[in-house]
Amino acid sequence: MNTQATIGTDILVAKSFLENGETVAIPTETVYGLAANGFDSKSVAKIFQVKERPFFDPLILHTNNIDKIRGLVGGIPDIAYKMAQLFWPGPLTLVLPKSNKIPDIATSGLPTVGVRIPNHSLTLSLLEQLDFPLAAPSANPFGYISPTTALHVYHQLGTKIPYILDGGNCTIGVESTIIGFEQEKPIVYRLGGLSIEQLEKAIGNVLVKSENEENPAAPGMLKSHYAPHVPLYRIGINQIEIGQEYSIIEGFKISNKNIGTILFNQPINQFPIENQFILSPNGDLNVAAQNLFSALRILDGKKLEAIISEVFPLVGLGNAINDRLRRAALKS
Ligand code: TXA
Ligand code: MG
Repeated sequence: MNTQATIGTDILVAKSFLENGETVAIPTETVYGLAANGFDSKSVAKIFQVKERPFFDPLILHTNNIDKIRGLVGGIPDIAYKMAQLFWPGPLTLVLPKSNKIPDIATSGLPTVGVRIPNHSLTLSLLEQLDFPLAAPSANPFGYISPTTALHVYHQLGTKIPYILDGGNCTIGVESTIIGFEQEKPIVYRLGGLSIEQLEKAIGNVLVKSENEENPAAPGMLKSHYAPHVPLYRIGINQIEIGQEYSIIEGFKISNKNIGTILFNQPINQFPIENQFILSPNGDLNVAAQNLFSALRILDGKKLEAIISEVFPLVGLGNAINDRLRRAALKS
């Protein structure tokens, strides 16, 4: 496709493209997704093509109610059902045994499938009108920062897809928390928009395995991801030290490099203010998560020599923010 995508709010237009096997970008509360008919392998293949995503990285299927979810999975354990009732629609993906209606390409051949009911009114109305689920990874080229506005999608995939459903700015701003089950015990595979504290309050202790790198197809997290083109370095501020942060700061100051910052609630005095992003001056981690990916994109567009980010507080969405920044800082 060589034409430019249309940005609009018409779910009937989106529906018609999807029914014709096309990919359409959709808003969710976490990030924008690149959606296609999750029951149709040819439509799903287009997602991989548009994103240049490796086939070993499985997709999440989205729908609008638990009855439809039942048609996508082999069964829902009690503990998963409890989470579904508490947190859907919302930033939670459950990995469950897959039904054979789902083509293998969607799950990269795995016997399980990630399913989610997103919390966005426009997308929920669209899903309600479809008789198939939407397979949808984040709507960014593989490995790059996820989009949190329709324009983010347009700038990167606008020549490759026909339609972007515009649902405004994503209210959460980081991807869903992914949970699978091992011997019926919930395991967190990806930190995300539903915090560990919220989860543990509801279901007790959970095990976090989001650092597992051995098999990216299963726990689904590649080490280097969400990465800007400008190199990103993480430092500790206020005595939260990781590695050689002070020599890094001194190094940048002395060589007077053109650098930007991603910070929680206050600037670093040594650096020029114009390239400093303070994600939440009031110190609200939810607001910081909302602003994270936009800030990274803007800095990435400024032709800087480096981006420096700090370690965010290790609570609530601070953990998901740190996870994304850690992966953004690594080059594959
Ligand atoms: O918030 C989100 O989850 C967004 C919106 C659009 O819903 N989607 C999203 O999709 O972040 P994506 O493809 O960028 O990330 C999905 C991750 C993949 O990296 C994959 O490894 C993991 O989910 N995943 C999917 N199915 C899985 C499965 N059966 N087992 C383990 N991990 C799985
Ligand atoms: Mg993604």
